[in-house]
Amino acid sequence: MTKDSFKEDDCPLGVELTEKLRQQADPYHDGMGGCHGPDHTERVHKTALHIGRLMGANLDVLSAAALLHDIGRRFETREQGKICHAEKGAELAREILVRLDFAPAFIDETAHCIEAHRYRGDKIPRTLEAKILYDADKLDSIGAVGIGRAFLFAGQTGARLHNANDVDILACKPYSKEDTAYREFKFKMSKIKDRMLTPEGKRLAEERHTFMEVFFERLERETKGAESMTADTPQIASGRG
Ligand SMILES: [Fe+2]
Ligand SMILES: [Fe+2]
Repeated sequence: MTKDSFKEDDCPLGVELTEKLRQQADPYHDGMGGCHGPDHTERVHKTALHIGRLMGANLDVLSAAALLHDIGRRFETREQGKICHAEKGAELAREILVRLDFAPAFIDETAHCIEAHRYRGDKIPRTLEAKILYDADKLDSIGAVGIGRAFLFAGQTGARLHNANDVDILACKPYSKEDTAYREFKFKMSKIKDRMLTPEGKRLAEERHTFMEVFFERLERETKGAESMTADTPQIASGRG
């Protein structure tokens, strides 16, 4: 993406500084593929600013945090989960923001958003901006984008297209050929709407959730064969909720 492709509206820190942050973040996103690469970051950035505007959040902090939130991801991947990408990302973000002469309080607030965006252990989002970044990041793992990302991931692990029909989905192992997009939906994506931290995040998540249910119900019917496409819409085999 070029500098000109971003509107001023998308750059609360100003186009120049926003571009500098993107340039700092880009090398960390290289080779992260379709699930966690720069496109994910840009979507999270847009969603975070949308929620932030509605809630009167500090958009400068939110913008910097969103652009840098996953820069620790490659370290977590390389160490097979022994490093937490949110904590590593917060550490790296501090270094970047110091180099770019941001004020210490701004750096602390931004680093908190990044370290808490996974919402695990003692890293609970304390500030409005941290809650918004958390919601924006989770929203990108559901809805049409979430489905697309789930299939990309399943493709990378060599999983089947779909398997609700013929296996106990909850007993299937991760990283196996049964680690399908549908398994991800049942295990994770279907639960996200209940974990949102902001009203707008919740609203968007409910809407994206409904779309996923429709999609997987349709996928189930199509994989059963042409006959099932003429019947009334049934519930998916392993039920909802
Ligand atoms: Fe992340
Ligand atoms: Fe993310």
